[in-house]
Amino acid sequence: MKLIRKMVSLGVLICGLCSVSWTLAADLPDLGEPTQSQAKASASISAAESLKKDAVCTKCHDSSEMKPVLSIYQTKHGVKGDPRTPSCQSCHGASENHVKNADGKATRNKPDVVFGTKRGSSGAYPPSEAKVQSTACLSCHGKDVNRTHWEGGAHQTNDMTCASCHEVHTAHDKVRDKQTQPEVCFVCHKEQRAQSKKISHHAIGEGKVVCSDCHNPHGSAGPKMLKKNTVTETCYTCHAEKRGPFLWEHQPVTEDCTNCHTPHGSNITPLLKSRAPFLCDDCHDGPHNSQAPVAGNAGGIQGGLTNATTSKLANPSTSYAGRACLNCHVMVHGSNSPSGAFLHR
Ligand code: HEC
Ligand code: HEC
Ligand code: HEC
Ligand code: HEC
Ligand code: HEC
Ligand code: HEC
Ligand code: HEC
Ligand code: HEC
Ligand code: HEC
Ligand code: HEC
Repeated sequence: MKLIRKMVSLGVLICGLCSVSWTLAADLPDLGEPTQSQAKASASISAAESLKKDAVCTKCHDSSEMKPVLSIYQTKHGVKGDPRTPSCQSCHGASENHVKNADGKATRNKPDVVFGTKRGSSGAYPPSEAKVQSTACLSCHGKDVNRTHWEGGAHQTNDMTCASCHEVHTAHDKVRDKQTQPEVCFVCHKEQRAQSKKISHHAIGEGKVVCSDCHNPHGSAGPKMLKKNTVTETCYTCHAEKRGPFLWEHQPVTEDCTNCHTPHGSNITPLLKSRAPFLCDDCHDGPHNSQAPVAGNAGGIQGGLTNATTSKLANPSTSYAGRACLNCHVMVHGSNSPSGAFLHR
């Protein structure tokens, strides 16, 4: 199988060399001499290997480009045998004025679709409108379930385009690789970058958990472009044991994990917004205030012992020391013990 493929491509290469490369050498525009390293990087792909229908563009845009345009043939957009494979023109438009340059301008007319961002393009032409760029991609990818909510999503409404994240003229599209994806997102999301460096964090920098495990950057029906419809559903995809069902539920847990946790990082382990008892005091009325206040002579389980001479607490309350409320209420996510009504066991 491999041998056959090799022979076929060898054949294509030889045929190509006599036809395409010939014409190429003849009317090659002066796009500057490629440096040695660029030539090396793109040496593995020659214009001759490109799709036939691409010749209209590749006769000028060949391996001598500053950026390795022809690397697209190493990606899923360059699979020759696949009838769905786009041509240059499926993405960049027919671009007749650019190809012909009939009016002989010094700077030729721009192609129909120039990709890139307003800030980020160092190219010869200003990038096309965001809508024009995304429409070119969505002509094929618009029906995928993953992009149903592109329109109206935070990225679309902020004039981002597919090319703000994706690089298609390279075999390694950073945003789709777990190791490199965060780099791409962090360019804009500095706050999440800072959070992910805190003591307690999801292993984002380590490449084990990525932004796209929880978010659909293309937009979603959930809040904050979360993959699932709610925060808890998103968390359950990995922390299934927190779903229960529990005999004794803790209401804030079933409501929204971010009542107590922050998803991106915290200096309070494990990913907590604050420390108990303060965490619990946000909703609960102090350490059993009404029943066993922590004060002089307060007896019982919560109160500390009072020093007889100073009438100050000799021992801190169990509600503050150690794991605070969690000293006793260990089953904070819910309990299945028949006697766990107070999340004790
Ligand atoms: C006759 C040569 C020629 C042909 C054919 C040609 N181009 Fe170009 N193209 C150029 C030149 C030269 C530039 C650089 C613009 C300049 O400096 O004037 C360019 C620029 C571009 C750019 C912008 C690059 C940037 O730096 O922003 C894109 C995209 C592009 N061409 C796509 C295409 C596509 C797609 C086709 C086929 C439909 C095509 N070109 C056909 C010569 C050509
Ligand atoms: C003419 C149709 C067509 C157009 C236009 C098109 N694509 Fe694709 N794209 C495909 C096909 C076909 C695949 C391969 C799908 C597969 O193998 O399941 C693909 C795959 C992809 C993938 C996944 C690649 C992988 O390795 O799994 C990404 C990302 C992608 N396209 C982004 C884009 C972006 C961004 C644009 C616009 C700049 C675009 N596409 C325009 C047809 C198209
Ligand atoms: C904010 C960054 C971002 C933008 C903008 C973006 N993508 Fe993606 N895209 C991603 C990430 C991250 C993945 C990998 C998702 C995963 O592996 O679950 C991805 C994956 C894909 C894939 C392959 C997997 C799949 O979901 O089918 C395609 C196709 C794709 N994107 C197309 C597009 C198109 C078309 C646009 C523009 C309408 C676009 N993307 C805009 C970040 C982005
Ligand atoms: C799947 C859609 C798609 C296809 C097919 C495609 N391009 Fe592109 N092209 C892009 C996007 C998106 C960019 C922006 C840079 C990037 O993503 O790598 C781009 C950038 C370019 C550039 C500018 C490079 C630079 O300096 O930034 C040129 C020139 C170009 N394409 C030419 C071509 C030619 C020639 C072909 C056919 C061999 C082609 N493109 C096929 C989407 C596509
Ligand atoms: C473990 C799941 C998870 C991961 C991984 C994750 N997020 Fe989030 N993200 C959330 C949740 C849940 C929210 C909504 C709650 C909140 O705002 O804290 C959110 C909110 C956001 C927001 C909106 C914040 C706001 O205040 O409006 C941005 C931006 C964001 N995430 C970016 C990222 C980026 C970038 C990454 C990757 C570095 C990432 N997230 C990884 C779960 C996650
Ligand atoms: C080019 C800049 C840019 C890049 C790259 C980028 N984003 Fe965003 N993102 C934005 C902007 C702008 C917003 C909307 C304003 C805001 O909330 O900060 C946004 C909003 C978000 C939100 C909040 C959604 C909401 O509904 O409030 C999430 C989640 C998010 N981005 C995740 C990601 C992820 C994941 C990646 C990488 C795959 C990524 N972003 C890459 C610019 C970017
Ligand atoms: C893609 C899978 C995935 C998703 C989705 C996910 N997590 Fe995690 N989470 C992990 C992994 C992996 C760990 C590390 C587990 C370990 O070290 O045993 C972890 C650890 C944690 C920890 C303990 C952190 C520590 O410092 O020990 C908390 C708390 C947590 N996740 C909360 C959440 C919340 C809240 C959500 C939803 C917003 C969520 N997770 C979504 C995979 C995920
Ligand atoms: C009422 C506050 C609160 C809510 C709401 C909450 N947690 Fe926690 N979570 C905690 C506390 C406190 C700890 C530390 C427990 C300990 O130290 O024994 C913790 C620990 C964790 C851990 C790490 C240890 C373990 O038990 O595995 C994970 C994972 C976790 N929570 C996931 C979740 C998920 C998922 C949700 C939403 C379904 C959620 N939490 C909702 C308070 C909460
Ligand atoms: C976001 C608000 C919130 C936070 C934070 C919170 N709780 Fe709760 N908790 C509730 C609600 C609401 C109930 C249900 C009260 C009811 O049913 O009357 C509850 C119930 C309980 C119960 C069972 C009491 C009963 O009457 O059934 C205990 C015990 C408890 N919480 C302990 C804690 C501890 C310990 C913490 C800190 C780790 C904590 N809670 C954090 C909102 C919260
Ligand atoms: C030394 C063990 C212990 C500590 C520490 C403790 N509790 Fe309790 N808690 C109990 C017991 C036992 C009950 C059962 C009802 C009772 O006896 O008062 C209870 C009941 C509760 C209830 C339900 C009844 C009510 O008073 O509304 C809540 C809510 C509660 N605790 C919250 C907290 C919070 C918040 C903290 C930390 C500030 C905390 N507990 C610390 C043992 C403890």
